[in-house]
Amino acid sequence: MTRLLGSLLLMAAAGATTLGAAPAPAHAAATPLDRVVPAPASVTPGGSPYRITRGTRVRVDASGSGSASGSGEVRRIAEYLTGVLRPSTGYRLPITDHGTGGIRLRLAEGPFGAEGYRLHSGSAGITLTASAPAGLFHGVQTLRQLLPAAVEKRTVQPGPWTVAGGTVEDRPRYGYRGAMLDVSRHFFGVAQVKRYIDQLALYKINELHLHLSDDQGWRIAVDSWPRLAPYGGSTEVGGGPGGYYTKADYREIVRYAAARYVEVVPEIDMPGHTNAALASYPELNCDGTAPPLYTGTDVGFSSLCVPKQVTYDFVDDVIRELAALTPGRYLHIGGDEAHSTSHADYVTFMNRVQPIVTKYGKTVIGWHQLTGATPVPGALAQYWGLDGTSAAEKAQVAKAAQHGTGLILSPADRVYLDMKYSKDTKLGLDWAGLVSVKRSYDWDPGSYLPGAPESAVKGVEAPLWSETLTTSADIEYMAFPRLAGAAELGWSPAATHDWDTYKVRLAAQGPRWDALGIGYFRSPEVPWQG
Ligand code: ACM
Repeated sequence: MTRLLGSLLLMAAAGATTLGAAPAPAHAAATPLDRVVPAPASVTPGGSPYRITRGTRVRVDASGSGSASGSGEVRRIAEYLTGVLRPSTGYRLPITDHGTGGIRLRLAEGPFGAEGYRLHSGSAGITLTASAPAGLFHGVQTLRQLLPAAVEKRTVQPGPWTVAGGTVEDRPRYGYRGAMLDVSRHFFGVAQVKRYIDQLALYKINELHLHLSDDQGWRIAVDSWPRLAPYGGSTEVGGGPGGYYTKADYREIVRYAAARYVEVVPEIDMPGHTNAALASYPELNCDGTAPPLYTGTDVGFSSLCVPKQVTYDFVDDVIRELAALTPGRYLHIGGDEAHSTSHADYVTFMNRVQPIVTKYGKTVIGWHQLTGATPVPGALAQYWGLDGTSAAEKAQVAKAAQHGTGLILSPADRVYLDMKYSKDTKLGLDWAGLVSVKRSYDWDPGSYLPGAPESAVKGVEAPLWSETLTTSADIEYMAFPRLAGAAELGWSPAATHDWDTYKVRLAAQGPRWDALGIGYFRSPEVPWQG
């Protein structure tokens, strides 16, 4: 008998006794409602479980409180959910706007905020309620984790598909829960970025920061400066072919991300980290001479020419085109490691460029060195220091935060996903130290930076720099399991923070990653099953 036929027979046997909403058999221990990453705000277990069967329907409200477009979005979320469930269950799972029971997705007023949801599971069905589609989408991610890990496989599995009874009420601690992918040091194509977006969505991450330019490559087409991408993007670290996103590619990434409630945050790193641009256009250099393309891993050797007007014409054109391509709120202008720019020039440059970003309707984000210039009102500073960062530098960032600059926390010795886990990790770097899974998780964003008010903290972002990474497998090995911890720091209430319970919830992700083909680091700190 083939394996496929075997599982079809198993399914048929299961289905024959479970049409409708039959109670789950005693042997089917459902995942406890609180075994979810990120930890939900509140979990109330109890009541009968729900079992998805071949008779289950996915119900979307025909009217409800949702607008016409809201209900279209609810249907798209239902299609996303059935896209996960159909291949592994083998069930039809029709989407319908009438009937009772089943899995119901519903928009309604409630204490959910822009991204929260309630999931109620009982013998009659599962109801996901949210006041905005993003909340339903996040609730769907929770539902995935409450089903057996085999639900993530793309071939029919035996089941049963039981969800424990009870209620999850959930909403995020922070509105900004990000991951950054460095597509400059090594280029990653659209399909690879989409794969990462799918992985971010699993953990309710809602911002994808794309590091689109650096010394080693310019990765986004700019019509008004046409050599940037085809020439400036023609190589990468180690001398490989590099690459870039056409505008259509970038729009496709934005669209794919938006369908998963992820906002794309594009970064053009300036005034340092600009060799690819300087190599593409001699006039951007103070001496009028273009340097060669660069494929090494040094930092801090390049600078746009701050005194030249053409520099600001260039920046205006790039930001105008990128802002027009980007529906999201933010545009990141880098500002880190400008070691070849004098302090005075740095301040001049950052203070002149920020208004260009606001002129094109975007909110400025900069690496935290931006606080050494004058952050414009509303700007966010992304802190990437470490324990050893000088008190003066920390105080400068804290002072800006006291004066209204919002903070995104990306401490390098906590959530830089490219840091090695241990000295034996083959990929990655170690300039910020070794970052174990526990170390990555065990800190509190709200009280992290001395002197910075908790209210200034807008969220957490886990950057992944790609000097040593060339494939999706490389990305995943460095990101998992630490990405899940960063996601939890961004989403879960501080009161849920506890390594000993986290590591058990994290261990339960292992079989899911196996099912999804994610090759993760099996840290000895985590009690993996099997
Ligand atoms: C950085 O790691 N240079 C932001």
